[in-house]
Amino acid sequence: MRLMIFSDIHGNLEALKSVLEHAQIQGYHRCICLGDLVGYGPWPEECIQLVRSLKKCRVIAGNHDVASLWETSPYGMSSLAKKVILWTMDKLSPESKEYLGSLPDRLDLADMTFVHANPYNPRGWRYVFDRKHALRCFAATRTRNLFIGHSHRPIIITRKNMFSVDIQSVTGSGQFLLSDKSRRIFNCGSVGQPRDKDARACYIIYDSRLQQITYYRVSYDIEKTTRAAQEAGLPTAIGKRLFKGI
Ligand SMILES: [Fe+2]
Repeated sequence: MRLMIFSDIHGNLEALKSVLEHAQIQGYHRCICLGDLVGYGPWPEECIQLVRSLKKCRVIAGNHDVASLWETSPYGMSSLAKKVILWTMDKLSPESKEYLGSLPDRLDLADMTFVHANPYNPRGWRYVFDRKHALRCFAATRTRNLFIGHSHRPIIITRKNMFSVDIQSVTGSGQFLLSDKSRRIFNCGSVGQPRDKDARACYIIYDSRLQQITYYRVSYDIEKTTRAAQEAGLPTAIGKRLFKGI
């Protein structure tokens, strides 16, 4: 089976459409979205509707999704994130709010676990960058492969033994063969707001038969997204971040 995994769309419809077109060409059987459909970008409602229209797609809640429903307070977020979430709240239809409210925090399928931020405290929204938090993730799960988003930075963390991990940043597109039985955490990067200084949208395809993970980077029309953000009255910092990939 080929599973497409993508995350952190953040209301960036241009990036989402480009990723979906690209993934269609690569070919996949099912897809999983790891949350944050909204926040930052100018098309939150459109992104929700497009994700909902995808066949055989499971979706998990992200911190911006639940903040847009007031399930958690946006006042705990960064000033930029908070401003856009307050704007987003007024843009969502009742159906889309109900949909976001129905999303689970975690999904377990076969030898895989899917969460937005981490599996040990899903609504604490802590990032997984280092050994301590990676080991907590492994302790909280039994599955071999864990897929996360949230940090917007593509990384692969391999558990070497009970006490140590190997942390590898992923740059550009690339294939990784899962040639051993090690447990791993894959951060699939971000579709709509990458933060690894590569402005291109990011997603992955996991081929379970070949035991292969492929990271893809996809160019999209950043200017169009930036223009739409400006026309919507959103802060100019949003466009600047998109161009820099930060
Ligand atoms: Fe995010």
